[in-house]
Amino acid sequence: MKALFKLVGLLAMAGIWSSCGNNKEIANYQVIPLPQEVTMTSDGEFAINNGTQILYPENNEKMQRNAQFLAGYLKEATGTDYVVEAGVEGKGNILLCLGLEGERPEAYRLGVTSEGITITGASEAGVFYGIQTLRKSITPVKNSTPVLASVDIKDYPRFSYRGVHLDVSRHFFAIDEVKSFIDMMALHNMNRLHWHLSDDQGWRLEIKKYPLLTEIGSKRKETVIGRNSGEYDGKPYGGFYTQEQAREIVAYAAERYITVIPEIDLPGHMQAALAAYPNLGCTGGPYEVWTQWGVSDNVLCAGTDSVLTFIDDVLSEVMDIFPSQYIHVGGDECPKAKWVTCPKCQARIKTLGIKSDARHSKEEYLQSFIINHAEKFVNSHGRRIIGWDEILEGGLAPDATVMSWRGEGGGIEAARQKHDVIMTPNTYLYFDYYQTKDTENEPLAIGGYLPIERVYSYEPMPASLTSEEQKYIIGVQANHWAEYIPTYSQLQYMALPRWAALAEVQWTNPEKKNYEDFLSRLPRLINIYALEGYNYATHVFDVKADFVANSADGTVDVVMTTIDHAPIHYTLDGTEPTVASPVADSILVIKQSCTLNALAIRTTGNSRMLTEKIAFSKSTSKPTKANQPINRQYQFNGVTTLTDGLKGNGNYKTGRWIAFYRNDMDVTIDLQQPTEISTVSFTTCVEKGDWVFDARGFTVEVSDDGENFTKVASEEYPVMKADDRNGLYEHKLTFTPVKTRYVRVMVPSEKSIPQWHGGRGNPAFLFVDEITID
Ligand code: ACM
Ligand code: ZN
Repeated sequence: MKALFKLVGLLAMAGIWSSCGNNKEIANYQVIPLPQEVTMTSDGEFAINNGTQILYPENNEKMQRNAQFLAGYLKEATGTDYVVEAGVEGKGNILLCLGLEGERPEAYRLGVTSEGITITGASEAGVFYGIQTLRKSITPVKNSTPVLASVDIKDYPRFSYRGVHLDVSRHFFAIDEVKSFIDMMALHNMNRLHWHLSDDQGWRLEIKKYPLLTEIGSKRKETVIGRNSGEYDGKPYGGFYTQEQAREIVAYAAERYITVIPEIDLPGHMQAALAAYPNLGCTGGPYEVWTQWGVSDNVLCAGTDSVLTFIDDVLSEVMDIFPSQYIHVGGDECPKAKWVTCPKCQARIKTLGIKSDARHSKEEYLQSFIINHAEKFVNSHGRRIIGWDEILEGGLAPDATVMSWRGEGGGIEAARQKHDVIMTPNTYLYFDYYQTKDTENEPLAIGGYLPIERVYSYEPMPASLTSEEQKYIIGVQANHWAEYIPTYSQLQYMALPRWAALAEVQWTNPEKKNYEDFLSRLPRLINIYALEGYNYATHVFDVKADFVANSADGTVDVVMTTIDHAPIHYTLDGTEPTVASPVADSILVIKQSCTLNALAIRTTGNSRMLTEKIAFSKSTSKPTKANQPINRQYQFNGVTTLTDGLKGNGNYKTGRWIAFYRNDMDVTIDLQQPTEISTVSFTTCVEKGDWVFDARGFTVEVSDDGENFTKVASEEYPVMKADDRNGLYEHKLTFTPVKTRYVRVMVPSEKSIPQWHGGRGNPAFLFVDEITID
């Protein structure tokens, strides 16, 4: 990674570490997540000075702890010690109390008058969220006196389940790191930690009845380098939590009103457990704790009775440690290959009378048998299960809650079946994805492209559900899979500031959400990240550029902005901008091929450089029309993406590529006047593992009237082979020069994925960018 510009300077500008006496710092209630109602009143103002006391109701331990949390946050912000005491005399003080009968359990009211501050919660948790809002309203400046204008804030969360998930199997995070993660959650008003404790690459929780799970299953002999490069680092890796440590985490989280939901991922993702107890697998092993990434074929044997006992025993100890209502039993990505050939699994299928049908294979029904077994056991202890959306396949267990990760489809289906749903679609909420297009200058991530703006745009209530069905959407969660997150510092980098956007999705009602407004509030929250020493990503401070193919003028129009309105300097000749370079303060109109470089120049340092090559051809910024639909999930800015002068890189999710699925790319470009042309080209981005295949052909037709077209060139391409590479494929047709106004480009997609691929028989995605005509 390049040395990244850090906003330590921003803090210095705000004077955090200056000790210039009792300067007044005006509080700002425009925090993240934005409260539901902030009403400024006309009751003067209140200053928190070193005589201000924090008062809580006598004999309420939770409220006493709340008061101590507030004192701690205020001390971090101002450096002052405040007295914490039982008491009810609000005048001149900060009073914490309970009330708000009839409100939602996590609701609070925060009132400021010249007499003092009162935080009233419908529960102790509500008071805690009021404290978080007060904490975030105050500008952290050492030795300052926070001054608060009078206000009446009424607030409550939109969703009762506001979660983040942490994978500690692929990489392990120490107890203190998990505690810090919980502190970060508290700052963002989150209340559910989904702790992914077991997977192919490591078992991380002590289970007393099966000591080898941690003795053997928590250690792998080495780890693959990069993205399953085939090379290994040769370093043993391991770690686990004792039951006592896990209880310590449960208690630490509970003090912050966070419930820890443990996940034991079954019946797949079990290779580490099989390494410890090979008789739990179909073949009996031997197995090793997996040293590479992916989904192992080695899963629990569904035909072995001791596997059912193992599940019960493990879940029994898990329920003993974790008091949460929910126990997560995984259920995702369980390959059925071993079950198909295992005599014990096939015997179980026979005994149960399982038959395949048009919807599901016998083995998918067998997976439901295992999940149903786990659910019965968990229910018999008064608890409930959550499973990933694969648990729909083969039929949902009667009371299961579904975590929808492969998009929203599973969640929608589950809600229609009257099951509770937590939305965590990978295309919005997988925070192991890249947060920038500039992946070359980033630490390695799993892939994808999930900038903070996209997180913010997520609306978890599917419009296709009735209002009755929508009630089953109980919450939202982001996931942190740790294959490419080897350190806690990197975990913070992937989480922050995307959690800020997530927090607003989880807490704030959608009609109050506004991305520009959110960005204007974000630097204040980032000040707190810096104060806490969190390693946050700084992409939000980079130059953001919007490119518009202006077909009226035949230009590419660029609007560049920064979140804090820092001056943006640019060049068009490929050189690095300096303060002497022109400032982009209005629309920049590009009329010919060039390289745009732009930098935000601040007194605290320069942002990363934005670089875009803009390549003009005869099709650039010409009116472009799609004759067949673009895939909705990947339509981004629509069909003009194909003629905007900008080329996509090797990541098909950046918005520079648009996709066609089931139908073909079929577009007409209007060159606006008779123009001589002799070549047409386009590029595809292929990622076979994601069902993204190359084109099957290419036809160019021309027309003078846009109605009657004549074919000028055509080619067919073979179906892709297993060993064809991923990446970019450029296709070009050259023909005898022809003068024409309209050009129609037809590119068939793969309609049937070949036999060698897991998606055999299904259509493939076709990702296309820049159609160049010359
Ligand atoms: C998952 O991402 N395998 C749930
Ligand atoms: Zn088996």
